[in-house]
Amino acid sequence: MAIIISGTNVAKARKERLKEEISLSSKLYNRSPKLAVILVGNDVGSLSYVKGKAKAASEVGILIDTYHYEKSITEEEIVKKIDELNNDSTVDGILVQLPLPKHIRTDVVIELISPKKDVDGFHPRNVASLYLKQEGILPCTPKGVIALLDSENIEIDGKRAVVVGRSNIVGMPMAKMLLDRNATVTICHSHTKNLQDVTKNADILIAALGKAKFIKENMVKDGAVVIDVGANRDPETNKLCGDVDFVNVSNKCSYITKVPGGVGPMTICCLLENTYIAYLNNNRRK
Ligand code: GUN
Repeated sequence: MAIIISGTNVAKARKERLKEEISLSSKLYNRSPKLAVILVGNDVGSLSYVKGKAKAASEVGILIDTYHYEKSITEEEIVKKIDELNNDSTVDGILVQLPLPKHIRTDVVIELISPKKDVDGFHPRNVASLYLKQEGILPCTPKGVIALLDSENIEIDGKRAVVVGRSNIVGMPMAKMLLDRNATVTICHSHTKNLQDVTKNADILIAALGKAKFIKENMVKDGAVVIDVGANRDPETNKLCGDVDFVNVSNKCSYITKVPGGVGPMTICCLLENTYIAYLNNNRRK
């Protein structure tokens, strides 16, 4: 049976450290960090994510202003709000919860956020910073995955890492971050032929494709490290489940993460850390 890397525990320890740092800095700068969250519509998943982020933020001493709009809001109104938040020096981070309704152009909205306040790391400036190894804000989920590997001192340097999934939010930045840690990285996707032949070679396997229990034991090398980024509804039980068939894969690999309690809490933790970094930079610029 593999060792389970608990995102819940790693995030808890990091949040306790962050809370202490925020407490000290808030005295130094005479104010707490503030994150503005824009939420459009009533998508159940988005409402639940925002609630989770707000709770975690308040636990570490980050103020949250949530702007919750009807689904019918226009792009212009969102643009106006972002403009206002960009110019408000007491706002350190801005997060627009995705997905947005179809009539609002996501890329237009994201590009409008000041890169310095883009705590999701989605702005093209921050994306470029990652690829050019310049200073910028890193996207939360892949940053959280690296933190999970580091929490167990899992060697990345020289290892064969396979990322299944090529999204802008997870797969692509994940691959780049593993590359920057000197892994030999392969990215797989829906057109990959003989996927199993590729995943079976992975020392570190990152599942980020968004298909419930897709990664089976015959796709995993003995002793591999398996990180599950999936957040799906199990079609049988309707409960939250990952991209990895945990019960069977955990008998074969050396380390594994669970869903829930794995990558999810780390994503939120890294969002809080990014907000704190933005806050420090904001204060140091003054
Ligand atoms: N929707 C699903 N995941 C995310 C995320 O990490 N950030 C934002 N802003 N929206 C999301």
